[in-house]
Amino acid sequence: MTAPGLHPPAPSTSVPVPLQHPMTLVMPLADPSPAGIAGLAQKVFMTPAGEQLGPELNAGGTVHFARFVIVENALVMASSYDGTFDDYIEMFIHTMGDVFDLIMGYVVDPAPTPVKDHPEEFVDWVHARDRGPIGFYSAYPGVSAVQIQDAFGIDPKLLPEAPTTPPPPLPAEQLPDIQGLILRGLGQTMVRHLVLRVTDAPTARAALGALGDPDDTSTPSVTHGADRGKNKPRSAIALGITATGLLALDVPRDSVSSFPTDFLEGAVRRATRVGDWDLNAPELWGPLADPDLVHVLVSVYASSAADLDAAATAVTDLFGSGAAVTTHYDGAVFPDHPNHVHFGYRDNISQPIIDGDPVPRPADGPQPKAPPGEFLRGYESQYGGVTLEVPQPVELGHNGSFTAFRVLEQNVAGYEEFLEAVAKEASLDPEYVAAKVVGRWRNGVPLVKEPGPTPPPDPAPGTPLNDYGYEADDPDGLRCPMAAHMRRGNPRDQPMLPRGDNHRRRIMRRGMPYGPEWTKGDPVDHVPRGLLGHFIGSSLTLQFETVMGEWINRGLTNPSITGTNDVLIGVHQKPNWFPVPMPGGSTFDVPVNDLQFTTTKGCIYAFLPSLTALRWIGAIGT
Ligand code: HEM
Repeated sequence: MTAPGLHPPAPSTSVPVPLQHPMTLVMPLADPSPAGIAGLAQKVFMTPAGEQLGPELNAGGTVHFARFVIVENALVMASSYDGTFDDYIEMFIHTMGDVFDLIMGYVVDPAPTPVKDHPEEFVDWVHARDRGPIGFYSAYPGVSAVQIQDAFGIDPKLLPEAPTTPPPPLPAEQLPDIQGLILRGLGQTMVRHLVLRVTDAPTARAALGALGDPDDTSTPSVTHGADRGKNKPRSAIALGITATGLLALDVPRDSVSSFPTDFLEGAVRRATRVGDWDLNAPELWGPLADPDLVHVLVSVYASSAADLDAAATAVTDLFGSGAAVTTHYDGAVFPDHPNHVHFGYRDNISQPIIDGDPVPRPADGPQPKAPPGEFLRGYESQYGGVTLEVPQPVELGHNGSFTAFRVLEQNVAGYEEFLEAVAKEASLDPEYVAAKVVGRWRNGVPLVKEPGPTPPPDPAPGTPLNDYGYEADDPDGLRCPMAAHMRRGNPRDQPMLPRGDNHRRRIMRRGMPYGPEWTKGDPVDHVPRGLLGHFIGSSLTLQFETVMGEWINRGLTNPSITGTNDVLIGVHQKPNWFPVPMPGGSTFDVPVNDLQFTTTKGCIYAFLPSLTALRWIGAIGT
């Protein structure tokens, strides 16, 4: 990409790279007396676990130093680390979980233990106790622990190897219990997302019980993972329940409080974690801003307007006086470009495949299959040996998952204008600029395989479009920039800090456009259009929030893009630029400034219960 005449906003000297962040974890002591402190020293730091601290911290590859000190009535851990905060904390869980389990016995308001089994709660616990510095000095700024170790020939013990035996695949007998949407797209061309408010708990619970009973064909039911016979059904259903929804349904409070904090806090309270402020702020989300209006989200899919209306009416009739429709969102694939989304790209090519899902699909390239626990509660997760906590009772939590449902408005005309302006200034084909922004040409062909600069022909049906990695084929981002949307969203095998962070934060994306298709040359109509999408994972914190908040919005996947925001969907509250690596090692920074092409118009964090869980809810009080 050549760049005559373009003047980037000169970010390079002021880029906050993800290296050498200070952490100061202040943990008030339950017993700050001399005897209490002596007990802590003896029972935590003089144990075999405590003595392993050094090698364990070394194993992460990202820690410069760490020290524990007593300050006033608190135990303080001060450290400096590379990479992202959440990754650092997760590294604790994997390498120093035993030490923190012991520490919890001595501090006020401890995190649940073993921390290894409660990773999300532990991340939140640390977040709440970390004090930002008011001053920070480094003798060697911008250098990572690994670089220093390499320079001095120090051979650190690396992160523990991934377990040699992968977690067991999903047992086939579980498929009828799991919502189909979690496993794969539901194969329809239209969707209506109904946002419901519970108005009468017993009636609403009875409706949920019926939706969890596929054997009763007199009422609609949630589509499950074995529900895909030769004859495509005329409609399909997915269903989520929010934290306020569980309470409105009179699910017992001790069950509700066993759910993860991210879900309990909900999308409105967690908005700033993913960049939803300013133009994207919850105050501008209409009814979705009020969690008391958002209890149940039913996503009804069909392939004709008549079938969609019929299926949606069957659902609202089933709820009857038990729930009122707060609002609804309709989406549909483009009749002329069925696999495409606004901005003109082919989508839905790269999706994780859950190990054990029997449905044949194009291979996901060299990427490993997802262990069931990456998308379902109750199974070993992508963090070797860790099974995320199952909300209680097990009938409610097992086989459940979580979704961030998002209403994303897209400024298509503005995006095309941006592509044209950049292309004109740099004497390039706008299609080449469009491909660089996403990482694929608009017809879906990956840049890693067809680097341009002229667009490749449309791929023949069945052409593999996902069989590549970055490390071998494009380590420096000369083909697909590090800042491209899909390389931020899934850095695949690209080296990451901490070591071994790859393939752990994958997201099932189930989206459909709303609003009419707009193509370049059409009159600018200002009609709202965008994407309605479920972003699914077994942990909102570890998957959606980290990908959206740290990787997409802040570029923490690689130091060369840190501080930049995704051009396609990022929120740009500050001058932004798009770094494009050039042959020879230089980088050309395309100015994006404060342009924002995608705006959050709503978000719901919902639990996607199993069919057993729906029946369990239906049976409450009976
Ligand atoms: C208007 C909104 C969005 C548009 C137009 C959009 C568009 C795209 C396109 C065209 C692709 C490439 C197709 C493919 O590989 O399947 C893609 C991939 C992807 N997107 Fe988005 N996206 C949007 C929102 C999001 C959001 C909110 C997230 C994250 C939370 C996200 C995460 C990803 C991920 C993880 C991939 C797959 C990358 C890979 O596996 O290589 N996207 N997106």
